[in-house]
Amino acid sequence: MRTVDILTEKPYQVRIGRGLLRELGGQLALVHRPCRAVVVTDSTVGPLYLEEALASLQGAGFSAESYVMPAGEEHKSAETFLDIQRFLIRTELTRSDLLVALGGGVVGDMTGFCAATYQRGIPFVQVPTTLLCAVDASVGGKTAIDLPEGKNMVGAFHQPILVLCDTETFDTLPDLRWQDGAAEMLKHGVLADGEMFALLAAGSWREKAEELVQKNVEIKRSFVVGDEKDKGKRQLLNFGHTVGHAVEWLSGFSLSHGQAVAIGMIAETRTARKMGLTKLDEEIILRGAQANGLPVSFPAAAQDVAAAILRDKKRTDGGIAVCVPLRLGETRLHMLPLEQVREYVEMGLMP
Ligand code: GLY
Repeated sequence: MRTVDILTEKPYQVRIGRGLLRELGGQLALVHRPCRAVVVTDSTVGPLYLEEALASLQGAGFSAESYVMPAGEEHKSAETFLDIQRFLIRTELTRSDLLVALGGGVVGDMTGFCAATYQRGIPFVQVPTTLLCAVDASVGGKTAIDLPEGKNMVGAFHQPILVLCDTETFDTLPDLRWQDGAAEMLKHGVLADGEMFALLAAGSWREKAEELVQKNVEIKRSFVVGDEKDKGKRQLLNFGHTVGHAVEWLSGFSLSHGQAVAIGMIAETRTARKMGLTKLDEEIILRGAQANGLPVSFPAAAQDVAAAILRDKKRTDGGIAVCVPLRLGETRLHMLPLEQVREYVEMGLMP
């Protein structure tokens, strides 16, 4: 088993290894006394792994129940959120009990936000079953739901007490989900590790998944620790997400998150180059994306993308902090004035 210590205000550990789901109860008992645990999962992951998770929890003395939400970003909604909260009330979960998020980023974000708000906050555990969730969403404590007005519009910072990543669960992932994970790892490569970027850009790395999860969690940690509330260096993790979130939203989520981030990284690097902020050629990222089966463009109107960006929570009075990749492994923030957003998008979308 590999471990990464996340030394946030409330520290926790990320544990990575094959077969760890079978040890969920025992691993959890090391950080929380046996109590009632509600496992939140979705209609894709539930049939595959819920039984094993419940059995493991029960075997370690936890009293375990479950809530299965419909799979898909469209269900990361206020309706699902309230339904889960009512379920928790009906099951008489108390503040000394906990939630377990068993699934990908949607389940993790939803469960985390339920945990952050149920009775003003209860502990939760992340059990990511997708590569994307393992290398990004499960670590760092960002939790949220979507509203019809935008993605992740209502949320909270709430760190898990444990992240348990069973890389065996990746065995059932379809190609698209591997590609999603590749996009966030390519992002981490651009931000902090040119060597890892080169490995990923070569396109054949799946057998190194466990090592890559550890490396990517360590990279993510380096941006989160010291800036948990996303006021400074953590904003660099938004590379590709300014344009990416906008096109993901405009596609009605027909683009997956990783696909949108790939398109976003290329567009944002192209704009930075055209603005004279970097000499890094976006072709490098484009080729890395293509080698991993990711799309590199999306036919959206610049004005629609700009409007979506201006509604995004990354906007402040002073503008939007965008990430400029200087070279592979080095980036900086650039404050983009709101009145330049349209031009920023136009430059990025047009080769
Ligand atoms: N996914 C970006 C962050 O956690 O800050």
